[in-house]
Amino acid sequence: MKKEMPMNLHELFDTGIDRPLNNVDHVALSHTQLRILGEQGTGSFYFLDLEKLRDNYHRLRRAFVSVYENSQIAYSFKTNYAPVIGSRLKELGCMAEVVSAMEYHIATEVLGYAPDKVVVNGPVHEADFVEKILLDGAQFNADAWYLLDMTGEICRRYPERQFHIGIRLTYPIAEGGFSRFGIPSDATNLQRLREWQAAHRNCRIRGLHSHFSNSSRSLVSFADRIAGLLKASDMLFPEAPPDFINIGGGFFGEMPQSLARQYVETPGFAAYAQQIGQAMRQRFGARSDVTLLLEPGTALIANAMVFACKVLEVKYAEGKILALVNGSNHNINHKWAGEALPVQLVSQRPQAGGAEFDVVGNTCIEKDIMRTGVRGHVAAGDYLVFQYMGGYTNVLKQPFIHPCQPIYCWEDGRVFVGKRQENVNDILATYVL
Ligand SMILES: Cc1ncc(COP(=O)(O)O)c(C=O)c1O
Repeated sequence: MKKEMPMNLHELFDTGIDRPLNNVDHVALSHTQLRILGEQGTGSFYFLDLEKLRDNYHRLRRAFVSVYENSQIAYSFKTNYAPVIGSRLKELGCMAEVVSAMEYHIATEVLGYAPDKVVVNGPVHEADFVEKILLDGAQFNADAWYLLDMTGEICRRYPERQFHIGIRLTYPIAEGGFSRFGIPSDATNLQRLREWQAAHRNCRIRGLHSHFSNSSRSLVSFADRIAGLLKASDMLFPEAPPDFINIGGGFFGEMPQSLARQYVETPGFAAYAQQIGQAMRQRFGARSDVTLLLEPGTALIANAMVFACKVLEVKYAEGKILALVNGSNHNINHKWAGEALPVQLVSQRPQAGGAEFDVVGNTCIEKDIMRTGVRGHVAAGDYLVFQYMGGYTNVLKQPFIHPCQPIYCWEDGRVFVGKRQENVNDILATYVL
């Protein structure tokens, strides 16, 4: 159910802009548009371009399908589980990747994903939940031996049922890659998996999964990721190929130049598709029944959302210029590793030149410095728009000192509320006096 914005806002947008986030280096929102959106809540907000999200999905899918036809995307809900995102991706035929009972509920109960279109990963699950997803027919990937023990117990309780699972593996990969998640893909564990399979006739291990968030997002790293899965697949499925190989997420998406310049390499979707798709093709053939699953989060959503906050005051102290905004590090900083985040100054009264300033947040924490060294003529009333903010932002934001901000969505030339501004009642709903 869409919650519409007041009419005057539509009129403003109808006449104002074509596509707000069309250019990753420059957000097309004007100062007036930002101000009017800010005035709907407490000043700062996320702005999500659903058309950009669709573009990302189509571009990623096309890139992979053109190299390896049997490729399928499952969007990583943890990256941003705002229901509006999952709902639009479902319309496009995208699957869901979830890691908890909460995310599974959002995908299946709220958004209506069929369980067999949901990949369930994650290291920690209750036995009741594992039973439910196995009975539902979801695509469960066991991450650890205790989950295989749980699965075995469920198999024994339902001897008349036929189940299927996948296994998440971990193995060393290039560029610092190590994952504490998954079952180590060594001879001992692979042998144990063969024995598990032999002992559980009503559950078929039908595919392999890995995901690494510690390595770089480079092609070398992905070469090792896919090689590790294919090697284990040869050892575990010597007679017939598995149903799927799941390469996980971890792809870079299209991003502002100022951010891209900070990485050694930012492969595009076509390069990832070549690296991974070709390996699949060589191993299983071009028209294979083995599905290549991808679990992108960042690559689909990061560049489709920005965080906008208003400058409340500009202070000069100790030789520094500090722009105080009504947003915080909690809104924008997730898994960053020290990158200078791309930010655009949208001035009320634009002027050329200016000096370097730091953007400081609203949380009373000294370290709440959102960016240093931004250049421009900053003044109270201006807006700062942080780009590439779709992943691990609103879902990690806590109501520390201030309630969480709304998400405004752009679609078909209209703006609507994807998440309303939180208030004190939302925060206190789970506490008692
Ligand atoms: C299992 C799994 N798949 C996919 C993702 C999405 O990763 P990214 O946002 O880097 O694409 C994650 C994120 O941590 C994950 O844990």
